[in-house]
Amino acid sequence: METVSISNTDTTTGQRMHQIEMPTFGLGVYLMGEPGECKASVKHALEKGYRLIDTAMAYGNEDEVGEAIRESGIDRDEIFVVTKLRQPHANSHDETLERCQQSLENLGLEFMDLYLVHAPPKDIEARAPVWQGMEDCLSKGWTRSIGVSNYGAHHLDAMVSYASLMPSVNQIEISPWLQRPALRAAISGVGAVPMAYSPLARGHKVKDPELVRIAGSLGCTPAQAAIKWCIDSGSITIPKSSNLDRIEENLGSLAVDLSGTEEAFASLEESYVSGWDPTSEK
Ligand SMILES: NC(=O)c1ccc[n+]([C@@H]2O[C@H](COP(=O)([O-])OP(=O)(O)OC[C@H]3O[C@@H](n4cnc5c(N)ncnc54)[C@H](OP(=O)(O)O)[C@@H]3O)[C@@H](O)[C@H]2O)c1
Repeated sequence: METVSISNTDTTTGQRMHQIEMPTFGLGVYLMGEPGECKASVKHALEKGYRLIDTAMAYGNEDEVGEAIRESGIDRDEIFVVTKLRQPHANSHDETLERCQQSLENLGLEFMDLYLVHAPPKDIEARAPVWQGMEDCLSKGWTRSIGVSNYGAHHLDAMVSYASLMPSVNQIEISPWLQRPALRAAISGVGAVPMAYSPLARGHKVKDPELVRIAGSLGCTPAQAAIKWCIDSGSITIPKSSNLDRIEENLGSLAVDLSGTEEAFASLEESYVSGWDPTSEK
């Protein structure tokens, strides 16, 4: 599995701190609501070679992710686990630490690999103390890295004034239909790596006729082409599937060569947001 180096840049010295390797591809587990669905999907994914799992307290399945990891028999150190501090829980320094501990209990793990603020706290005044709580989670060893999700360029700019360490990752919606070159550049500008959620626009776009044509010319499936576009554009990505065949199909995207399709992918851009978009909030 290909990896990318992620790190938290020190805002005073500009040094890259807490540098670790993160797989560029993994499984997202949002909307796996049936009991056992998440566990079965994660177990299957791990068995087939996935090594990155993206969950969140808001998804209500951290416990099943932890069970699947333990039952997989794979060394904990080989699996990269991401979870997130819920936006309604992002209120204060102390609550951030409490919620991180709760997530670890749910997962049944001693540490997570990446802890993200799920979206900019609604209360602007809470953003600095919440992030200081995240930095404390990192220094206590509860997580190996800290990052954000759904932060726009202006949210990242504001962090420079209150953060000791900048985020290692900003998880945002990115797909061939929502390419976001300016926000991706702003993320790289603070030393972070973009992480593309909803690479298939929540499944809304897998039958897009132009994508189907591109995939036909490459000899892969439409979903594989869209997923590989996210990775080749410099993002980590985490397509969700709880269908065992599609979990394998999506892993197959790693072998796809997109050479010669740059213009065709550029033409898919339509600023299509499939879910929420807190990046544009104040
Ligand atoms: N930070 C955030 O605010 C945020 C927001 C949204 C998502 N996320 C994360 O990103 C992950 C992925 O995003 P997402 O779940 O919104 O959407 P997505 O991965 O773009 O799409 C998932 C949908 O596509 C279908 N699908 C998956 N593989 C397919 C294939 N090969 N062919 C056809 N259909 C396929 C899935 O159905 P089946 O399951 O039936 O295959 C599901 O309906 C989430 O699970 C979550 O971990 C984060």
